[in-house]
Amino acid sequence: AAAAERDFVVQGDIVYTPACGEAKILPQGYLVVKEGKVQGTYAELPAAYADLKKQDCRGQLIMPGFCDLHVHAAQYRQIGLGMDESLLTWLEKYTFPEEQKFSDPAYAERVYEDFAAELAKCGTTRAAVYGTIHRQSAEILAQKLAKRGLGAYVGKVNMDRNAPDYLCETSEASLAETEQFVHAPVWTDLVRPILTPRFAPSVTPKLLQDLGDLARRENLPVQTHLSENKGEIQWVAELFPTIRDYPQVYAHYGLYGTTPTLMAHCIHMDAAQIRDLVSHGVYPVFCPESNLNLTSGIMPVRRFLTAGAKVALGSDVGAGHDLFMPHVIVRAIQVSKVRAMEQPEEKALTLPEAFYLATKGGGSFFGKVGSFELGYDADLLIVRTPAALADRSVMERWQYFIYHGTPEDITARYVAGRYVR
Ligand code: GUN
Ligand code: FE
Repeated sequence: AAAAERDFVVQGDIVYTPACGEAKILPQGYLVVKEGKVQGTYAELPAAYADLKKQDCRGQLIMPGFCDLHVHAAQYRQIGLGMDESLLTWLEKYTFPEEQKFSDPAYAERVYEDFAAELAKCGTTRAAVYGTIHRQSAEILAQKLAKRGLGAYVGKVNMDRNAPDYLCETSEASLAETEQFVHAPVWTDLVRPILTPRFAPSVTPKLLQDLGDLARRENLPVQTHLSENKGEIQWVAELFPTIRDYPQVYAHYGLYGTTPTLMAHCIHMDAAQIRDLVSHGVYPVFCPESNLNLTSGIMPVRRFLTAGAKVALGSDVGAGHDLFMPHVIVRAIQVSKVRAMEQPEEKALTLPEAFYLATKGGGSFFGKVGSFELGYDADLLIVRTPAALADRSVMERWQYFIYHGTPEDITARYVAGRYVR
């Protein structure tokens, strides 16, 4: 019965991007789902599927759910605060004091309940999420996401230096709590743990080494921040004087593609560093709203794409101010246009490219996620567009939703074929 519940056909205006920059459109098409996986998309329903439960969404768009590959759940209450600062001051003055509150599980219960609800409402079906250093609160975060039926990697943050006393762990406790976290009784098929050293300045060489060993030993993915801000990069050079550059710090400790790895930002990287990132199979996560808010710089996304990088998109809430990924898609396009105006060889992102990054591009970190090809997890959104646009093409209504839609336009969400409440 559980399987049959995940067998259905939905009819509507299908849009997805099987390749970067390629929008595939099927007006009034059929999307067939069996056991939570996509069987295919069809202009006419094949006779073999005639008996499946059918959902009529004609007039609405059907698209893959959004993947947010960099978001700090613990910064959800902090959105908009201190946005006139740059990274290191913003962390000290606003972020660390807020994150300290998660030492109280009751606070985590409230904030993470709201965060998970908002993520679902926004149509984000998969996310790579940071908690704080507090293990119990990070486990609550995992449970809240699982309860909603969302897919996620969830990290307990590691910080054993250069943090205020109230947010600093001992190296031993940080490792022990992380080991306990990855074995906590909260994990499901869809919600999994990810190692989360905050960034190189917050973690001692010893703990970086221990986390690299743990990643390899237990085959755990890794997420952290890389080359976001020039002051940060200078600081890393001072903290690791014997290591060539910032990316090599992570590589040195086995945290750079030994297991699946997400590196948020990657703003200030030269051609050799980009080639090296690609050869390690590391995902750079482009967080355009955060790039602007903290005046960190603009990630040269075109250079990463041309080099063959597996680029993902992230909201980076609370340095980003918006969980709704269509806004992040638009900002990604806009900031890439700013770069293109100065450097025409860095062609601006197109909508079918940025949409790909927010669906199949980031989705690939979770497996076969973010597309409607055979065998993909059935992560989908049903989206209404205004009646006044009924005579527009599917392509035009899709563009309208991405640029001017709201979470309220999403009328249903599914993750792996299960309805998200
Ligand atoms: N670098 C280290 N910590 C953080 C964080 O919380 N947000 C951002 N944007 N960058 C970071
Ligand atoms: Fe971040």
